[in-house]
Amino acid sequence: MSFKISSLSEYFVEYQKSIDQPEKFWSDIAETFKWKKPWDKVLSWNFNDPDLKWFLNAKLNITENIFERNIEKFGSKTAIIWEPNDPNEKPLQITYNELFQKTCQFSNVLQDQGISKGDRVIIYMPMIPEAAIAMLACARVGAVHSVVFAGFSSSALADRINDCQAKMVITSDGNFRGKKNIEVKAVVDRAIEKTKTIEKVIVCKRTKAKVNMKSGRDFWWHEVVKNQTSDHKATILDSEDLLFILYTSGSTGKPKGVVHTIGGYMIYSQYSFQNVFQYENDDIYWCTADIGWITGHSYIIYGPLLSGATTLMFEGVPTYPNPGRFWDIIDKYKVNQFYTAPTAIRALQAHGIEHIQPYKLDSLKVIGSVGEPINEEAWHWYHDNVGKGKCPLVDTWWQTETGGIMISPLAGITPNKPAHASLPLPGIQPIILDTNGNELIGNNVEGNLCIKFPWPSMIRTTYGDHKRCKETYFSTYQGMYFTGDGVKRDHDGYLRILGRVDDVMNVSGHRMGTAEVENAINEHPKVIESAVVGYPHEIKGQGIYAYVICDIDNYSEANLIDEIKETVRNIIGPIAKPDKVQIVPGLPKTRSGKIMRRILRKIASKDISNLGDISTLLNPDIVEKIIIGSSKI
Ligand code: WT7
Repeated sequence: MSFKISSLSEYFVEYQKSIDQPEKFWSDIAETFKWKKPWDKVLSWNFNDPDLKWFLNAKLNITENIFERNIEKFGSKTAIIWEPNDPNEKPLQITYNELFQKTCQFSNVLQDQGISKGDRVIIYMPMIPEAAIAMLACARVGAVHSVVFAGFSSSALADRINDCQAKMVITSDGNFRGKKNIEVKAVVDRAIEKTKTIEKVIVCKRTKAKVNMKSGRDFWWHEVVKNQTSDHKATILDSEDLLFILYTSGSTGKPKGVVHTIGGYMIYSQYSFQNVFQYENDDIYWCTADIGWITGHSYIIYGPLLSGATTLMFEGVPTYPNPGRFWDIIDKYKVNQFYTAPTAIRALQAHGIEHIQPYKLDSLKVIGSVGEPINEEAWHWYHDNVGKGKCPLVDTWWQTETGGIMISPLAGITPNKPAHASLPLPGIQPIILDTNGNELIGNNVEGNLCIKFPWPSMIRTTYGDHKRCKETYFSTYQGMYFTGDGVKRDHDGYLRILGRVDDVMNVSGHRMGTAEVENAINEHPKVIESAVVGYPHEIKGQGIYAYVICDIDNYSEANLIDEIKETVRNIIGPIAKPDKVQIVPGLPKTRSGKIMRRILRKIASKDISNLGDISTLLNPDIVEKIIIGSSKI
């Protein structure tokens, strides 16, 4: 039985059903999955003291739903197409049968190496099939994977290992990315020095980089896999056992570990994948995200593989060996659904139309966007030049915490409206509130986006700190999940996401907390205080602007700025490196000592015509000085 919606009227019917009888709606879908034991109750929930459970006491293994459930039908079908960084290297096509065998073998490895149910395993790897196999094998043995984007620094990796007390790291020797040959294992080694819990490291050979292997701790993937059988009995797990932890930035402090559990996530990732992209059996689907982000989890790995889809995994970057690479891959494999981020679109647009013109792109049926608001210009460029004006464009709004796509057109079903995520998926109940918590009813309203009813793949907790989960998501508005985004419902009732309303930036589709970048900047010995804000950036969506008070003495300002940028790069990673650093004599503060970010944001955006009332500041003179200084940045 399929739960794929095929018309707009059907969407409205299904949506209404999901609101009137959510438990029946989701349990009908859940029944098409393979369970070892059915649930006693579909849902139990509390948004005040967050407690969220779906399919209570049901038992299952998600990998049995990818493999055992479908293998008769899809065994010889390609599960993963892997396209290497270098277009001259041989690509790989892995069938469901092969992926099943490899997952089983690696599950045996994990258990031999002492991993069992509930253990946390860090995956710090490039975009190679072994990364997918590592995730699936963790899920099969009941270990909790936490994939860390391989662009993060050793100290960011160490923080994550320590936060979840991981026992194992699965990694590679190195990583080919564009022209670069990046060290990976060496980063892991440095991270482990700052941690106490790692017992084993498994290293997949990719670049043949020279690495140090610590005897008794470090093992080569190919060696430990060699003698393993491809028989493995999946561990039976509870619907609410942890599937994975994924770290993401918030407005305060260190990144938090968003926890997703098995049953609900499984159902929602498959359901949303099939409906948003309208995947059909022989289609080739490609999502360009990295598996280090939630998009990679839900829409390269779990959603597509649960659906028996062919999912393309690309190791490289959009501009290597030239800015036509994405289009080359689409033509080469006849990709039908293509899902990428606005920042990639804008960057490729800036390289010029001549890089796309040689390609046919006639296999495409659906194109998608994710990660940040897509501006109308980029929307049209994407729609006209990639989609050739005929492919529906799905602008999918969601978050690490939501586990799956929440607001999006269904391809070819929901009428497209540029830059609008448009309508909620069945089961999703958005509500718009003003800052006082009043619901904004009707059309043509703008406010903060909340969700008022649970959905299966929602965040369960922040790892090791449930209080933080409550404070971040369930305390701003009584009885609501607060997304942190602003939204507008237009005159047609379509939703348009306006961006973050908190101190979270969105840089090239990556989420970055201002406080996190400030903390890194403050590690530089010459820095006294800093304030970071986002500003509009043509390609990245938002750039990072840092105002820094320093103890300069005779130091060169230019050197200092470079060092500050480097410090952030070392502490967090290249994605957090400020685009602009301005050394300032002071920061605008209220009388209670709070930094007036509103003013700093305006200066960074070069929007100084109306700074509002600054007379109540503790130090109003500073504003003029910062404005003068900013003109040179
Ligand atoms: C934040 C979540 C969801 C996967 C990638 C990002 C922004 C995401 C859209 C969109 C406007 C979007 C929001 C959201 N965002 N998709 N289609 N339109 N904004 O996941 O790192 O958890 O970031 O990304 O601000 O809150 P994430």
